[in-house]
Amino acid sequence: MCGIVAYIGPKDATTFLLEGLQRLEYRGYDSAGVAVAGKAGTLKVCKVKGRVADLAAAVPANFFSKQRGKGSTGIGHTRWATHGVPSDANAHPHTDTSGRIAVVHNGIIENADELRARLLADGAVFTSETDTEVLGHLIAAHAVEGTELEDAVRAALGHVVGTYGIAVLDAAQPDRIVVARNGSPIVLGLGEKEMFVASDVAALVRYTRQVVHLEDGELATVRADGFRTFTEDARTVTRQPSTVDWEIASYDTAGYEHFLLKEIHEQPAAVERTLSGRLDERFATAHLGGLNLDARELREIRRVKILGCGSAYYAGEMGAQLIEELARIPAHSEPASEFRYRNPVIEADTLYVAVSQSGETYDTLAAVQEIKRKGGRVLGVVNTVGSAIARECDGGIYLHAGPEISVASTKAFTSTVIAFALLALHFGRINDLSPADGRRIVAGLKALPGQIREVLGQEAEIAKLAAEYAGSAGMMFIGRVRGYPVAREGAQKLKEISYVHAEAYPASELKHGPLALISPELPTVALVPDDELLDKNLTTLGEIKARSGRVLAIGHRAPEAKLADHAILVPKSEPELDPLLLNIPLQLLAYYAAVALERDVDKPRNLAKSVTVE
Ligand code: G6P
Repeated sequence: MCGIVAYIGPKDATTFLLEGLQRLEYRGYDSAGVAVAGKAGTLKVCKVKGRVADLAAAVPANFFSKQRGKGSTGIGHTRWATHGVPSDANAHPHTDTSGRIAVVHNGIIENADELRARLLADGAVFTSETDTEVLGHLIAAHAVEGTELEDAVRAALGHVVGTYGIAVLDAAQPDRIVVARNGSPIVLGLGEKEMFVASDVAALVRYTRQVVHLEDGELATVRADGFRTFTEDARTVTRQPSTVDWEIASYDTAGYEHFLLKEIHEQPAAVERTLSGRLDERFATAHLGGLNLDARELREIRRVKILGCGSAYYAGEMGAQLIEELARIPAHSEPASEFRYRNPVIEADTLYVAVSQSGETYDTLAAVQEIKRKGGRVLGVVNTVGSAIARECDGGIYLHAGPEISVASTKAFTSTVIAFALLALHFGRINDLSPADGRRIVAGLKALPGQIREVLGQEAEIAKLAAEYAGSAGMMFIGRVRGYPVAREGAQKLKEISYVHAEAYPASELKHGPLALISPELPTVALVPDDELLDKNLTTLGEIKARSGRVLAIGHRAPEAKLADHAILVPKSEPELDPLLLNIPLQLLAYYAAVALERDVDKPRNLAKSVTVE
């Protein structure tokens, strides 16, 4: 999804802008561009359809960004097309007719057509199909002689309906960059006599750990020696910087071929961090300091509703299962993208839980805001500290999984389920989960990092199987009850990164429809844990084999040869925690299938890491 970077200070702006954009590549994009303030009140813009490397090659040698003696100022962008096709013309930055004001923008301007018509009538000349271009013209219309850039931006935004994170450069005032946020993140990075701006800390961590997150409805004037934050009605607000604690090394593939493979391997350590300091062996429960709910308040909760998108939604399904089993509270997960549009009934005794790796997903944020507007209570299960969703929630659990760069989620998914296991344990022990069962779950959780390592030890065999199955036209994933969310996430991973069609079904539903699809061309990945449903699952495998279907079983014991063609075995955990381990081979299966098919594993086509638009 779109990314913003900006620099003001004594160094060469273009160098930082190109490096920063490269750090944001993981979010997904189709074009990139930069604008720098040049000599004598001019702006230079370079933008291309394609990769940041294409942009770097296109920046002309005379693309100076250093004004002699005055330092340099610039803004940059990676675009993910919404209004208008990916093209050089539609790439950001966009300028006004005179080429004095340049703007980069994440989000969507809803009244762009109306604004465009008005600006055209006033003589503006448009050069792109984007909604963003209206911002450049609109700001220019307010930037009359003697107006400070921040006042022009504030006045222009007064006419705008929609969501935005923007950075604005004015050739006539190159001593500042003005940024604004409404629904799309903007982070300021504080350096020594230099300042950075980005839509994501990933672009900044190489330069500074001191950051300020803008709130919705806020703007900032950023100068080389500092910044000032203020509201849309010009009230100054004070923002204290916070320190980013993510390691710079997390933004590097560290010798792995892809971020995805690295992140799969980081899971044992990520799980340890999610669990760290949260298990209480004495009372066989979990400590979750950020919930902001005491035992009495928790006991009054009658229902749990979990909301997230994509893998976060599937992790929520595993979470719902854990909460219902351990705390005996009805729990359900729903796509946040659906929930927000169906005028949901918000109940006082329901606990709402928003799940998001990035903490930026617009659909999830909008769902949280709708619940809060109606007086509901929302917890966040979020990876990114200080993100929009984390700030909007009443309390929550941070994953501490470390940054996840690959578009497809792996370690954040696993850590999310761990966070739900902790919540379910805590909740259960406040309700009727026995101390013995609490101890069983605590021990089960502690064993998980080592058990994940054991599964990862089978990488070479799984890679071979993946290459064998990758040629299939499609794949079926089945699981029963606890296994069903595993099947859904497994199918999601495969289609996301290998583009092989994958469908997930509850194993119990196979005979009610999809059995008609079974043939040697459509192999089935079946989740067959050694639990109370084992016999039922084996019967389903028999039904598939009777229709000449191929079966890859994932479980704890290899089924007889007549029931499965291949099996991947994982260590046994507690039945409630088994789904976590059953999911790991499916990640490797998807990864190696994508590698066998030579896909762009970390940046699958058409997808973005953080979907900050509707
Ligand atoms: C996008 C990504 C998915 C991700 C989902 C939720 O659709 O492509 O991989 O699962 O967003 O992201 P979040 O950051 O909210 O967990």
